[in-house]
Amino acid sequence: MKDQDSIFFRNFSMLLGFLVLLTIVLAITGYVMHEDILGDKEMEKDRSAIAKTLEPVAKVNTGDVIVAQVEEEKAPTAAFDGSLDGKKIYDNVCTACHSSGAAGAPKLEAAAWTDRMAGGIDALVTSAINGKGAMPPRGGRADLSDEQVKATVEFMTAGF
Ligand code: HEC
Repeated sequence: MKDQDSIFFRNFSMLLGFLVLLTIVLAITGYVMHEDILGDKEMEKDRSAIAKTLEPVAKVNTGDVIVAQVEEEKAPTAAFDGSLDGKKIYDNVCTACHSSGAAGAPKLEAAAWTDRMAGGIDALVTSAINGKGAMPPRGGRADLSDEQVKATVEFMTAGF
């Protein structure tokens, strides 16, 4: 009985050892063959194909992303599409005060401007950009560029 046990044990161990060896050999063969058949580039493709297969079917838009997109679309654009048409800007922004002379705003007439013009147009542009007295900076339109304010002041003072 004892002898038979040890014989069985020996044979069984050999069988187990053989199977472990076979597993290792097959694993290596499989790996080598896969590389051989596909080559390096194909392996890359193969991997990206796998990655694609594993990609999620759908993506959930969280509120944050949507808000970010909306904000991107609403990104501030230059006022009046960046137009340097002084009359257009005057008619839309400055006329409110400067046509009526509200709060002492100089109207578009020579008498209102000759004194102010003495300091040069650049000084007028600067005070239009920064605001002066009752006049808010850029006539209240913060999205007007310096160039646009300059073009408008030039329109307003042309000929005086
Ligand atoms: C809310 C009313 C208001 C609006 C709108 C307004 N202005 Fe005026 N602006 C004034 C007043 C009031 C003054 C006189 C300020 C002073 O001399 O104390 C003035 C003065 C000026 C002057 C003379 C500055 C100086 O140094 O003497 C310029 C130039 C001018 N405005 C340009 C503009 C332009 C360009 C716009 C439009 C983009 C504009 N303003 C919009 C009220 C306004």
